[in-house]
Amino acid sequence: MFEKLDMAPPDVILGLTEAFKKDPNPNKINLGVGVYKDSNGATPVFQAVKEAERRLIDVEKTKTYLSIEGSPEYAAAVQEMLFGAGNSLVTSGLAATAHTAGGTAALRVAADFIKTKCPGATVWLSDPTWPNHPAIFRASGLNMATYPYYDADAKVLAFDRMIEALAKIPAGDVVLLHACCHNPTGIDPDAAQWKQIAGVAKTAGWLPLFDFAYQGLGDGFREDARGLDCFVNLDGEMLIASSFSKNFGLYNERVGALTAVGASVEAVEKAMSHIKVCVRTLYSNPPAHGGAIVTTVLGDAALRAMWEAEVTEMRDRINGMRTLFVDTLKAKGVTRDFSFLTRQRGMFSFSGLTKDQVLKLRKDSAIYIVDSGRINVAGMTENNMEPLCKAIAAAL
Ligand code: LMR
Repeated sequence: MFEKLDMAPPDVILGLTEAFKKDPNPNKINLGVGVYKDSNGATPVFQAVKEAERRLIDVEKTKTYLSIEGSPEYAAAVQEMLFGAGNSLVTSGLAATAHTAGGTAALRVAADFIKTKCPGATVWLSDPTWPNHPAIFRASGLNMATYPYYDADAKVLAFDRMIEALAKIPAGDVVLLHACCHNPTGIDPDAAQWKQIAGVAKTAGWLPLFDFAYQGLGDGFREDARGLDCFVNLDGEMLIASSFSKNFGLYNERVGALTAVGASVEAVEKAMSHIKVCVRTLYSNPPAHGGAIVTTVLGDAALRAMWEAEVTEMRDRINGMRTLFVDTLKAKGVTRDFSFLTRQRGMFSFSGLTKDQVLKLRKDSAIYIVDSGRINVAGMTENNMEPLCKAIAAAL
């Protein structure tokens, strides 16, 4: 069987990391995959995470299976992150959370749940979106369509076209929304626009599915939930896929969650019973370690403060790199206006570089950027800024 196969294409993001690792150029720069780098170009373990791990070694008594949906303590910690401490959703039973193997598994479980219970539903994705989104929903066998999101000329949210399209989506379909730090554009709706989107969702009757992978990296923990908050206030149904890869630096621990919110406790319990069936058939039950770290950090005031300070430092460094990038390009004589980068949020920026320019940067300067022109700003440092901007100036 294997002899007859053709090679599958490399993954557009993770495949780039594979190529980067093989590149012998000592000056290579990886601005592809969304992984945070500190000012030294390293991706260290958070201090709060290390401390939580030390504590876990002492208190852990067993490695027996978690339940299919994971621990209730983790579920409560996730919900407090999403809805804010003290929010009644956390205790009302109107939200239920399954601990998943990263945000990707959360999305795939959501997709399988939708496919099994609403097989005719179409999932609407922003144009553009994270390249793995269509692959995940395709793997579950769901129909997909796109809604306008990005105005490539003005480099802003194409809000009027977006809201017009969202208003026409039929009841029972699913709309995937990036809760903050839109991947790949770095452009989010503002508070007033979120309100309008939530209003349209209520009138049209489609199900919102939030992908929430960058909480804390945009404007702050609660600020980044401003869109979600508008939907919470509607008391309707929604699904939320969380990831702690970036905001806890727990990439290789695969820590995520799928949260279902409903209008009655009974409805939420029913939804979770089917979500559990999907988890059981995909990976049975979640890996414990990463979830235990998140639960420990969020449940301890001192560790939580330490972690919040670390995320704030990341956010400030990324925003500092945005400004430095724009200024350094200018200093290199680039006349094209890149100031839009400072208005984008999170790890990514849709730079406007064409595929040809991206490929030239890769070939001539060992600078790795996703073919779409998406740059991981969190991979820029003071040290790589000069050579990076020099190469971009030459490629333009
Ligand atoms: C990215 O978009 O680079 C990250 O979300 C990592 C990934 O899995 O693609």
